Amino acid sequence: MNPTAPATLADTPLVPQADTSAFAALVARLSRQSVEKNHDAYADVAWDSPEMAIDPHDSRFQLPDWECVARTDWYKSQTPQVQAAFGLARYATAMKVGGEFENVLQRGLLTHAFWLPNGAVEFRYMHHEVIEESQHTLMFQEFINRSGTNVKGLRRDEKLGSGFALRCSRTRPALFFMFVLGGEDPVDYLQRRSLAGRDLHPLLERITRIHLTEEARHLSFARNYLKRTVPQLSATRRHALALFAPLLFGSMARMMVYPRPSLLKSFGVPRQQVRQSLRHPDQRAVLAESVAKTRRTCTELGLMTPAAKLLWKACGVWADVSAKPASRRQA
Ligand SMILES: [Fe+2]
Ligand SMILES: [Fe+2]
Repeated sequence: MNPTAPATLADTPLVPQADTSAFAALVARLSRQSVEKNHDAYADVAWDSPEMAIDPHDSRFQLPDWECVARTDWYKSQTPQVQAAFGLARYATAMKVGGEFENVLQRGLLTHAFWLPNGAVEFRYMHHEVIEESQHTLMFQEFINRSGTNVKGLRRDEKLGSGFALRCSRTRPALFFMFVLGGEDPVDYLQRRSLAGRDLHPLLERITRIHLTEEARHLSFARNYLKRTVPQLSATRRHALALFAPLLFGSMARMMVYPRPSLLKSFGVPRQQVRQSLRHPDQRAVLAESVAKTRRTCTELGLMTPAAKLLWKACGVWADVSAKPASRRQA
Protein backbone atom coordinates (compact mmCIF):
# COMPACT_ATOMS: atom_id res chain seq x y z
CA MET A 1 0.00 0.00 0.00
CA ASN A 2 1.22 3.49 -0.73
CA PRO A 3 2.37 4.92 2.64
CA THR A 4 1.32 8.41 1.56
CA ALA A 5 -2.22 7.29 0.73
CA PRO A 6 -4.88 8.86 2.98
CA ALA A 7 -6.00 6.55 5.78
CA THR A 8 -9.61 7.65 5.80
CA LEU A 9 -11.86 9.47 3.43
CA ALA A 10 -11.91 12.46 5.76
CA ASP A 11 -8.17 12.87 5.04
CA THR A 12 -8.65 12.68 1.31
CA PRO A 13 -8.15 16.00 -0.45
CA LEU A 14 -11.35 16.94 -2.20
CA VAL A 15 -11.52 18.14 -5.74
CA PRO A 16 -12.07 21.89 -5.66
CA GLN A 17 -15.73 22.72 -5.53
CA ALA A 18 -16.78 23.58 -9.04
CA ASP A 19 -17.65 27.14 -9.77
CA THR A 20 -21.44 27.32 -9.94
CA SER A 21 -21.32 29.65 -12.90
CA ALA A 22 -19.02 27.25 -14.77
CA PHE A 23 -21.51 24.45 -14.09
CA ALA A 24 -24.35 26.69 -15.29
CA ALA A 25 -22.41 27.49 -18.49
CA LEU A 26 -21.80 23.79 -19.14
CA VAL A 27 -25.47 22.92 -18.61
CA ALA A 28 -26.53 25.78 -20.91
CA ARG A 29 -24.15 24.49 -23.59
CA LEU A 30 -25.49 20.93 -23.28
CA SER A 31 -29.05 22.26 -23.54
CA ARG A 32 -28.14 24.21 -26.69
CA GLN A 33 -26.55 21.12 -28.23
CA SER A 34 -29.72 19.17 -27.47
CA VAL A 35 -31.62 21.64 -29.64
CA GLU A 36 -29.03 21.80 -32.43
CA LYS A 37 -28.19 18.11 -32.66
CA ASN A 38 -31.10 15.87 -31.75
CA HIS A 39 -32.70 12.93 -33.49
CA ASP A 40 -36.22 11.69 -33.93
CA ALA A 41 -36.64 7.92 -33.70
CA TYR A 42 -38.78 7.80 -36.84
CA ALA A 43 -37.85 10.85 -38.95
CA ASP A 44 -34.09 10.28 -38.65
CA VAL A 45 -33.89 6.51 -39.19
CA ALA A 46 -34.80 5.19 -42.65
CA TRP A 47 -36.63 2.17 -41.23
CA ASP A 48 -38.29 1.21 -44.50
CA SER A 49 -35.27 1.52 -46.81
CA PRO A 50 -34.46 -1.86 -48.36
CA GLU A 51 -30.90 -1.89 -46.97
CA MET A 52 -32.29 -1.46 -43.44
CA ALA A 53 -34.38 -4.65 -43.63
CA ILE A 54 -33.40 -7.24 -41.03
CA ASP A 55 -32.47 -10.74 -42.17
CA PRO A 56 -31.76 -12.85 -39.06
CA HIS A 57 -29.17 -14.82 -41.01
CA ASP A 58 -27.22 -11.71 -42.08
CA SER A 59 -23.56 -12.36 -41.20
CA ARG A 60 -23.19 -8.76 -40.02
CA PHE A 61 -25.13 -9.76 -36.90
CA GLN A 62 -22.52 -12.34 -35.88
CA LEU A 63 -20.85 -11.57 -32.57
CA PRO A 64 -17.46 -9.85 -32.42
CA ASP A 65 -14.60 -11.97 -30.99
CA TRP A 66 -14.58 -10.07 -27.69
CA GLU A 67 -18.17 -11.05 -26.81
CA CYS A 68 -18.23 -13.73 -24.14
CA VAL A 69 -20.48 -16.21 -26.00
CA ALA A 70 -18.33 -15.91 -29.16
CA ARG A 71 -15.53 -17.54 -27.16
CA THR A 72 -17.55 -20.69 -26.33
CA ASP A 73 -17.28 -24.02 -28.17
CA TRP A 74 -21.06 -23.95 -28.49
CA TYR A 75 -20.97 -20.74 -30.58
CA LYS A 76 -18.00 -21.86 -32.65
CA SER A 77 -19.78 -25.12 -33.55
CA GLN A 78 -22.95 -23.38 -34.81
CA THR A 79 -23.69 -22.66 -38.48
CA PRO A 80 -23.12 -19.04 -39.63
CA GLN A 81 -26.92 -18.67 -39.77
CA VAL A 82 -27.39 -19.65 -36.12
CA GLN A 83 -24.45 -17.44 -35.10
CA ALA A 84 -26.13 -14.49 -36.85
CA ALA A 85 -29.52 -15.26 -35.29
CA PHE A 86 -27.91 -15.43 -31.85
CA GLY A 87 -26.07 -12.15 -32.48
CA LEU A 88 -29.30 -10.44 -33.57
CA ALA A 89 -31.07 -11.66 -30.42
CA ARG A 90 -28.08 -10.47 -28.34
CA TYR A 91 -28.36 -6.95 -29.83
CA ALA A 92 -32.15 -6.95 -29.37
CA THR A 93 -31.79 -8.09 -25.74
CA ALA A 94 -29.25 -5.33 -25.05
CA MET A 95 -31.74 -2.83 -26.48
CA LYS A 96 -34.53 -4.24 -24.33
CA VAL A 97 -32.44 -3.86 -21.16
CA GLY A 98 -31.23 -0.44 -22.37
CA GLY A 99 -34.79 0.75 -22.93
CA GLU A 100 -35.86 -0.46 -19.49
CA PHE A 101 -32.92 1.32 -17.89
CA GLU A 102 -33.86 4.48 -19.80
CA ASN A 103 -37.42 4.16 -18.52
CA VAL A 104 -36.16 4.28 -14.92
CA LEU A 105 -33.77 7.08 -15.82
CA GLN A 106 -36.53 9.22 -17.35
CA ARG A 107 -38.75 8.78 -14.31
CA GLY A 108 -35.85 9.65 -12.00
CA LEU A 109 -35.00 12.79 -13.97
CA LEU A 110 -38.65 13.88 -13.99
CA THR A 111 -38.89 13.29 -10.24
CA HIS A 112 -35.76 15.33 -9.66
CA ALA A 113 -36.93 18.14 -11.96
CA PHE A 114 -40.35 18.12 -10.27
CA TRP A 115 -38.79 19.49 -7.06
CA LEU A 116 -36.44 22.03 -8.59
CA PRO A 117 -37.09 25.73 -7.89
CA ASN A 118 -37.66 28.33 -10.60
CA GLY A 119 -34.43 29.37 -12.26
CA ALA A 120 -32.62 26.06 -11.65
CA VAL A 121 -30.24 25.57 -14.58
CA GLU A 122 -30.71 21.80 -14.55
CA PHE A 123 -34.45 21.98 -15.20
CA ARG A 124 -34.27 22.64 -18.94
CA TYR A 125 -31.38 20.24 -19.51
CA MET A 126 -33.07 17.40 -17.62
CA HIS A 127 -36.17 17.71 -19.78
CA HIS A 128 -34.01 17.63 -22.93
CA GLU A 129 -32.44 14.44 -21.60
CA VAL A 130 -35.84 12.88 -20.85
CA ILE A 131 -36.96 13.63 -24.42
CA GLU A 132 -33.77 12.13 -25.87
CA GLU A 133 -34.07 8.99 -23.75
CA SER A 134 -37.65 8.60 -24.87
CA GLN A 135 -36.53 8.78 -28.52
CA HIS A 136 -33.86 6.16 -27.79
CA THR A 137 -36.41 3.84 -26.22
CA LEU A 138 -38.63 4.22 -29.31
CA MET A 139 -35.66 3.37 -31.58
CA PHE A 140 -34.72 0.35 -29.50
CA GLN A 141 -38.27 -1.02 -29.33
CA GLU A 142 -38.78 -0.51 -33.08
CA PHE A 143 -35.58 -2.46 -33.76
CA ILE A 144 -36.74 -5.27 -31.44
CA ASN A 145 -40.15 -5.41 -33.11
CA ARG A 146 -38.62 -5.54 -36.59
CA SER A 147 -36.04 -8.17 -35.54
CA GLY A 148 -38.78 -10.76 -35.11
CA THR A 149 -37.24 -11.80 -31.79
CA ASN A 150 -39.29 -11.98 -28.61
CA VAL A 151 -36.49 -11.07 -26.25
CA LYS A 152 -36.78 -10.49 -22.53
CA GLY A 153 -35.06 -7.71 -20.60
CA LEU A 154 -34.70 -7.29 -16.85
CA ARG A 155 -36.03 -9.92 -14.46
CA ARG A 156 -38.96 -9.04 -12.21
CA ASP A 157 -36.72 -8.65 -9.14
CA GLU A 158 -34.38 -6.37 -11.08
CA LYS A 159 -37.33 -4.25 -12.17
CA LEU A 160 -38.56 -3.99 -8.59
CA GLY A 161 -35.03 -3.05 -7.48
CA SER A 162 -35.17 0.04 -9.70
CA GLY A 163 -37.50 1.61 -7.11
CA PHE A 164 -34.40 2.34 -5.01
CA ALA A 165 -32.85 4.42 -7.81
CA LEU A 166 -36.11 6.31 -8.21
CA ARG A 167 -36.28 7.16 -4.52
CA CYS A 168 -32.67 8.36 -4.68
CA SER A 169 -33.48 10.75 -7.54
CA ARG A 170 -35.20 13.00 -5.03
CA THR A 171 -33.54 12.26 -1.71
CA ARG A 172 -29.98 11.23 -2.73
CA PRO A 173 -29.33 12.79 -6.15
CA ALA A 174 -25.58 12.01 -6.03
CA LEU A 175 -26.44 8.33 -5.68
CA PHE A 176 -28.99 8.61 -8.47
CA PHE A 177 -26.41 10.08 -10.87
CA MET A 178 -24.01 7.28 -9.89
CA PHE A 179 -26.76 4.90 -10.99
CA VAL A 180 -27.00 6.89 -14.27
CA LEU A 181 -23.26 6.46 -14.90
CA GLY A 182 -23.49 2.78 -13.91
CA GLY A 183 -25.91 2.13 -16.77
CA GLU A 184 -24.69 4.57 -19.38
CA ASP A 185 -20.92 4.05 -19.18
CA PRO A 186 -20.88 0.29 -19.94
CA VAL A 187 -23.36 0.77 -22.80
CA ASP A 188 -21.23 3.61 -24.22
CA TYR A 189 -18.18 1.33 -24.02
CA LEU A 190 -19.94 -1.61 -25.73
CA GLN A 191 -21.36 0.57 -28.49
CA ARG A 192 -18.02 2.25 -29.24
CA ARG A 193 -16.36 -1.14 -29.41
CA SER A 194 -19.08 -2.55 -31.66
CA LEU A 195 -18.46 0.22 -34.18
CA ALA A 196 -14.69 -0.17 -34.20
CA GLY A 197 -13.36 -1.90 -37.31
CA ARG A 198 -16.45 -3.95 -38.10
CA ASP A 199 -18.98 -4.10 -40.87
CA LEU A 200 -22.16 -3.53 -38.86
CA HIS A 201 -25.67 -3.84 -40.27
CA PRO A 202 -26.63 -0.27 -41.40
CA LEU A 203 -29.71 -0.14 -39.16
CA LEU A 204 -27.69 -1.17 -36.14
CA GLU A 205 -24.98 1.30 -37.07
CA ARG A 206 -27.45 4.19 -37.45
CA ILE A 207 -29.07 3.50 -34.08
CA THR A 208 -25.69 3.11 -32.39
CA ARG A 209 -24.30 6.37 -33.82
CA ILE A 210 -27.39 8.38 -32.83
CA HIS A 211 -27.27 6.90 -29.35
CA LEU A 212 -23.55 7.55 -28.85
CA THR A 213 -23.88 11.20 -29.93
CA GLU A 214 -26.66 11.96 -27.47
CA GLU A 215 -25.32 9.83 -24.63
CA ALA A 216 -22.09 11.87 -24.66
CA ARG A 217 -24.15 14.80 -23.33
CA HIS A 218 -25.86 12.66 -20.70
CA LEU A 219 -22.53 11.30 -19.44
CA SER A 220 -21.05 14.79 -19.35
CA PHE A 221 -23.97 16.09 -17.31
CA ALA A 222 -23.89 13.18 -14.83
CA ARG A 223 -20.12 13.49 -14.28
CA ASN A 224 -20.23 17.25 -13.82
CA TYR A 225 -23.25 17.02 -11.55
CA LEU A 226 -21.31 14.61 -9.33
CA LYS A 227 -18.22 16.85 -9.40
CA ARG A 228 -20.36 19.72 -8.20
CA THR A 229 -22.37 17.89 -5.54
CA VAL A 230 -20.17 15.15 -4.03
CA PRO A 231 -17.62 17.55 -2.45
CA GLN A 232 -20.55 19.23 -0.65
CA LEU A 233 -21.60 16.00 1.08
CA SER A 234 -20.56 15.25 4.65
CA ALA A 235 -17.48 13.04 5.16
CA THR A 236 -19.76 10.22 6.36
CA ARG A 237 -21.86 10.36 3.21
CA ARG A 238 -18.81 10.52 0.99
CA HIS A 239 -17.36 7.53 2.79
CA ALA A 240 -20.60 5.59 2.27
CA LEU A 241 -20.68 6.62 -1.40
CA ALA A 242 -17.06 5.50 -1.86
CA LEU A 243 -17.95 2.03 -0.56
CA PHE A 244 -21.26 1.79 -2.37
CA ALA A 245 -19.87 2.84 -5.79
CA PRO A 246 -17.94 -0.38 -6.60
CA LEU A 247 -20.92 -2.54 -5.52
CA LEU A 248 -23.24 -0.53 -7.75
CA PHE A 249 -20.89 -0.40 -10.76
CA GLY A 250 -19.94 -4.07 -10.38
CA SER A 251 -23.55 -5.21 -10.55
CA MET A 252 -24.65 -2.74 -13.22
CA ALA A 253 -21.68 -3.49 -15.48
CA ARG A 254 -22.60 -7.19 -15.32
CA MET A 255 -26.21 -6.35 -16.12
CA MET A 256 -25.14 -4.46 -19.25
CA VAL A 257 -22.12 -6.50 -20.41
CA TYR A 258 -22.99 -10.13 -19.64
CA PRO A 259 -25.45 -12.02 -21.86
CA ARG A 260 -28.88 -12.28 -20.21
CA PRO A 261 -29.77 -15.75 -18.79
CA SER A 262 -33.06 -15.68 -20.75
CA LEU A 263 -31.13 -15.31 -24.01
CA LEU A 264 -28.76 -18.18 -23.18
CA LYS A 265 -31.71 -20.37 -22.23
CA SER A 266 -33.64 -19.68 -25.43
CA PHE A 267 -30.67 -20.78 -27.56
CA GLY A 268 -29.64 -23.65 -25.26
CA VAL A 269 -26.15 -22.26 -24.66
CA PRO A 270 -24.38 -24.45 -22.03
CA ARG A 271 -24.04 -22.30 -18.89
CA GLN A 272 -20.78 -23.99 -17.93
CA GLN A 273 -19.15 -22.81 -21.17
CA VAL A 274 -20.35 -19.26 -20.58
CA ARG A 275 -19.03 -19.27 -17.00
CA GLN A 276 -15.71 -20.54 -18.29
CA SER A 277 -15.60 -17.81 -20.93
CA LEU A 278 -16.38 -15.14 -18.34
CA ARG A 279 -13.35 -16.26 -16.31
CA HIS A 280 -11.00 -15.65 -19.26
CA PRO A 281 -8.61 -12.70 -18.54
CA ASP A 282 -9.72 -10.86 -21.69
CA GLN A 283 -13.35 -11.22 -20.66
CA ARG A 284 -12.60 -9.95 -17.15
CA ALA A 285 -10.81 -7.03 -18.77
CA VAL A 286 -13.91 -6.20 -20.85
CA LEU A 287 -15.96 -5.90 -17.64
CA ALA A 288 -13.35 -3.72 -15.93
CA GLU A 289 -12.85 -1.51 -19.00
CA SER A 290 -16.59 -0.94 -19.35
CA VAL A 291 -16.47 1.22 -16.19
CA ALA A 292 -13.01 2.74 -16.73
CA LYS A 293 -14.33 6.29 -17.11
CA THR A 294 -16.54 5.94 -14.05
CA ARG A 295 -13.57 4.65 -12.06
CA ARG A 296 -11.64 7.75 -13.11
CA THR A 297 -14.54 9.97 -12.04
CA CYS A 298 -14.60 8.30 -8.62
CA THR A 299 -10.84 8.88 -8.27
CA GLU A 300 -11.26 12.57 -9.18
CA LEU A 301 -14.02 12.84 -6.59
CA GLY A 302 -11.72 11.48 -3.87
CA LEU A 303 -13.84 8.32 -3.57
CA MET A 304 -11.02 5.87 -4.28
CA THR A 305 -10.01 5.28 -0.66
CA PRO A 306 -7.94 2.19 0.22
CA ALA A 307 -11.08 0.36 1.43
CA ALA A 308 -13.03 1.37 -1.67
CA LYS A 309 -10.17 0.22 -3.91
CA LEU A 310 -10.29 -3.22 -2.29
CA LEU A 311 -14.00 -3.39 -3.03
CA TRP A 312 -13.47 -2.35 -6.66
CA LYS A 313 -11.03 -5.25 -6.96
CA ALA A 314 -13.34 -7.69 -5.16
CA CYS A 315 -16.20 -6.72 -7.49
CA GLY A 316 -14.04 -7.44 -10.55
CA VAL A 317 -14.18 -3.90 -11.92
CA TRP A 318 -10.68 -2.71 -11.08
CA ALA A 319 -7.91 -2.45 -13.66
CA ASP A 320 -4.36 -1.21 -13.16
CA VAL A 321 -3.70 1.87 -15.25
CA SER A 322 -0.49 0.26 -16.51
CA ALA A 323 -2.35 -2.85 -17.75
CA LYS A 324 -2.80 -3.08 -21.51
CA PRO A 325 -6.53 -2.74 -22.30
CA ALA A 326 -8.27 -5.83 -23.71
CA SER A 327 -9.55 -3.65 -26.56
CA ARG A 328 -5.91 -3.33 -27.75
CA ARG A 329 -5.03 -6.97 -27.13
CA GLN A 330 -7.76 -8.11 -29.48
CA ALA A 331 -8.35 -7.03 -33.03
FE1 LIG B 1 -30.17 6.53 -24.16
FE1 LIG C 1 -28.64 8.61 -21.59
